[in-house]
Amino acid sequence: MTNAVRILMCAPHHYEVDYVINPWMEGNIHRSSREQAEAQWHQLYQVLKDYATIDLVEPQPGWPDMVFTANAGLILGNTVVLSRFFHPERQGEEPYFQQWFESQGYKVHTLPKSLPFEGAGDALLDRGGQWLWAGYGFRSELDAHAYLAQWLDVEVLSLRLVDRRFYHLDTCFCPLSDGYLLYYPPAFDTYSNRLIELRVPAEKRIAIEEADAVNFACNSVNVERTIVVNKASDSLKQILHARGFSVIETPLTEFLKAGGAAKCLTLRTTETYRESPQVSTIPSRIVQLEGHLLDSGLVNRVLDTIVAGGGSFQVINFSLGAQRLDTSTAEVKVSAPDAAVMADIMGQLIDLGAVSPSEDTTDANLAPVTQPGVAADDFYATTIYPTEVSIAGKWIEVQGQRMDGAIAVTQTPAGVVARCKLLRELKVGESVVVGSEGIRTKRNTTTLKKNATEEFSFMGAGVSSERRVELVVEQIAWDLRQIRDRGGKVAVVAGPVVIHTGGSEHLNRLIREGYVHALLGGNAIAVHDIEQSLMGTSLGVDMKRGTSVHGGHRHHLKAINTIRRCGSIAKAVEQGVLRSGVMYECVKNNVPFSLAGSIRDDGPLPDTQMDLVAAQADYARLIEGADLILMLSSMLHSIGVGNMTPAGVKMVCIDINPAVVTKLSDRGSIESIGVVTDVGLFLSLLVQQLNKLTGQYAR
Ligand code: ARG
Repeated sequence: MTNAVRILMCAPHHYEVDYVINPWMEGNIHRSSREQAEAQWHQLYQVLKDYATIDLVEPQPGWPDMVFTANAGLILGNTVVLSRFFHPERQGEEPYFQQWFESQGYKVHTLPKSLPFEGAGDALLDRGGQWLWAGYGFRSELDAHAYLAQWLDVEVLSLRLVDRRFYHLDTCFCPLSDGYLLYYPPAFDTYSNRLIELRVPAEKRIAIEEADAVNFACNSVNVERTIVVNKASDSLKQILHARGFSVIETPLTEFLKAGGAAKCLTLRTTETYRESPQVSTIPSRIVQLEGHLLDSGLVNRVLDTIVAGGGSFQVINFSLGAQRLDTSTAEVKVSAPDAAVMADIMGQLIDLGAVSPSEDTTDANLAPVTQPGVAADDFYATTIYPTEVSIAGKWIEVQGQRMDGAIAVTQTPAGVVARCKLLRELKVGESVVVGSEGIRTKRNTTTLKKNATEEFSFMGAGVSSERRVELVVEQIAWDLRQIRDRGGKVAVVAGPVVIHTGGSEHLNRLIREGYVHALLGGNAIAVHDIEQSLMGTSLGVDMKRGTSVHGGHRHHLKAINTIRRCGSIAKAVEQGVLRSGVMYECVKNNVPFSLAGSIRDDGPLPDTQMDLVAAQADYARLIEGADLILMLSSMLHSIGVGNMTPAGVKMVCIDINPAVVTKLSDRGSIESIGVVTDVGLFLSLLVQQLNKLTGQYAR
């Protein structure tokens, strides 16, 4: 019987469980019966023959999983994307499948090496809509989806698999005729479930229970209204019957031992584009990307943003730079189920540096501020990256760039001014930018490591381990020296740990020698520093001997009290009461400082700013124009500073706690570097290194 539907199968002459590459294979090595497998496969073949024309590919000895032809590749029309298997155990199947596809006249696309994608096992055409559902997380990588979208000219909806047992999309997801969907929701993350729910109406979704899922009920072959499956519970069969499907069960237990069933054993080779494509009413927008898209992981982040936001994408153009130093460009069509989802995704893409093609740049949308300190609901939240907004057809640079602000637009006699403002700074009469149109951010494209000495370089935003500390110190010393000698600016953010770990004498040196141009901290660092200067203890611990001093717990209060009596830190210096330490050096060397208060502060010192809005303003003023910010063991104040610092300022964060370092060096800004180490040790190494430099090049 000839049939419009064709299916590719591969006889199980060499099938067995030889290795473990999925949880089903565990404990099953050499436990399957070849005879039984042949019989079960043959029965499936017989059943399917009534519904489709079956083609066969020659099985190959040594490649036992070749029976699972679903993983040969992904077909649409006359085009195939050949699989790139994740596990070496299956990579040897690739040339055989490739030969077969080529012998049948398909145009075969091969993915870049090391970009895994496992064919129709991880990519399924929707049978109602015009799109491709593609899975990632275990065997296929998200980046591969960009290639599918381009080569097959199809909209891709990426779904993240989260349950190891359902490692291929076709183990837990089965689009059925007329837009029905048989699937096991817990196999997907929340975003993917939301995406499914946004695309497939509730009455078309058939969610199955775990008991059916582990019998591979989703791994079924569907032709028109027939579903061929290993096994389905009575209740599932009833549900399917009620929707007009007939279910044929054919046992495939021998193949379950390798983690596959009916669908895995087949590849539908006649997948066609709809003759009359439905006109999509789904909003879509085109964005362009440029840079070291693959090396910097940008493609991955862009796709991840689209997918996590509930959207889908199509890649219109993807040109990879020919040389390592060349940048790549991509043009991506983003689609979303509705305008709100679209706006949300676009906002995030803009933050990643995506721009709209210049022909369709529209002006930014503005909404007036009608209540002081309050923006319209959908205001655009700023990032650390240089940003421009289009107003009356012209791109205007946003001033005072920082993250988590709104863009306030005002008319001045000199023209339109756009400025980053904190919500509390917004005034009635200004407008804020809303939505995501007419906004673009600039990413530095020099993410590619320019020199081989990665460790020396700030270019790699990364957390350094102990053995890299010295290399990082060399780099920082060099920078400090350069900045000082050219009259640049370095701000230091410091926590009390600097004092406890004996870093004070080194920080003093840095201040005296002109390497520090502003000091930001809280009440504590100043209190401990002053306690040490006045009494030789830090929180009552003798700094020389490392032991607690009798009655030492009162020392920090005495220190506060002494300064309060003097009126301020500067006055204590002036009166000869405070004669050494970090705060003393600041006063003596005219290094401005700001101490931001907090709820736990004792005293506080008269200099501590307990009005936090004023403290934030002081901080912002002190870091203005900084070339480098050195963050020394202060989570609270360092993060505060990170939030108000634009991209382009080097940030060096030193903390013994990797979590703090990661949080700060992970701003996506290439200039940030983190060093996980003891801050006292770090400062001593830094001073030593600066000494060497000074010796070499006399000032
Ligand atoms: N043992 C095979 C593997 O782990 C099973 C493949 C099942 N195929 C499928 N399309 N889900 O790769």
